Amino acid sequence: MASVTGLGYVGCTITDYQPWHQLLRTLYGLQRRDDSPAGVHQYRLDEQHHRLALKEGAEDKLAYIGWEVGTREDLRIIAARLSENDVRVESGERDLCAERAVMELIAFEGPDGVRTEVFFGPKLDSMPFCPAHGMSGYKTGDLGLGHVVLVAEDPEETVKWYREMLGFKLSDYIFWDGIEATFLHCNPRHHSVAFVNAMGPFKAGDLNHIMLEAQSLDDIGRGYDTALENKVPLAMTLGRHSNDQTTSFYAVTPSGWWIEYGHGGRLIDDAVWEPKMYSSPKLWGHARQLPS
Ligand SMILES: [Fe+2]
Repeated sequence: MASVTGLGYVGCTITDYQPWHQLLRTLYGLQRRDDSPAGVHQYRLDEQHHRLALKEGAEDKLAYIGWEVGTREDLRIIAARLSENDVRVESGERDLCAERAVMELIAFEGPDGVRTEVFFGPKLDSMPFCPAHGMSGYKTGDLGLGHVVLVAEDPEETVKWYREMLGFKLSDYIFWDGIEATFLHCNPRHHSVAFVNAMGPFKAGDLNHIMLEAQSLDDIGRGYDTALENKVPLAMTLGRHSNDQTTSFYAVTPSGWWIEYGHGGRLIDDAVWEPKMYSSPKLWGHARQLPS
């Protein structure tokens, strides 16, 4: 089955750019491009032209998520599959492909109104990623850009849609304290996307968090020190997840959603993997710092 191969990029509309820039630079060492289109701030964290794009606007909102495919043929097959299932698919015009820095893309509305793009051929930068401060870089490549966790009105239906339309596979579930989280993968990374029910300030269609995976546990520890020193608001303290075994902490962004900064996520071998259900998201730590 033609499927997406990884999380490519994430775009958000934001109302207050300077604190965002401060956070991305100081905590995560991301590299801002100096050749982005007017009003858009693009950030690198590996060889890809950019992975995050922030557009200044009237509200703080997830704008789009881009999923990569390995071949042009897979892009055609996925577009046809969506059309057959009454999803209106647009082909990205030249200007849009230039802004996203990809060869070709299709765009459509996924569950809960999430603008979803599937692209072929990301533009790579011949200059190496130059982090804003000393760190070991990010684990991307064949594993794609970390993961996103999205809030779904009907997580079960949404999971079915992502599996049938985009070719995701089930990783596992964590059900705890009234939260139902389902984790899906499209490459060996334990999950590239997960869906949770609405909770606290998060409603259907919202981005709950994006996860960036550093190459070294020391990057996470140093990032944690920096967060504490700079009094960056935390959603969860340092801890380790039960299912993907990532060691991470969660910072609250100026837009309200979170960034998980982690290391050591387990990989999935589909030949032997068996999905299971966990009743706690943590092995230790990850104490919630916000009212739920
Ligand atoms: Fe996560």
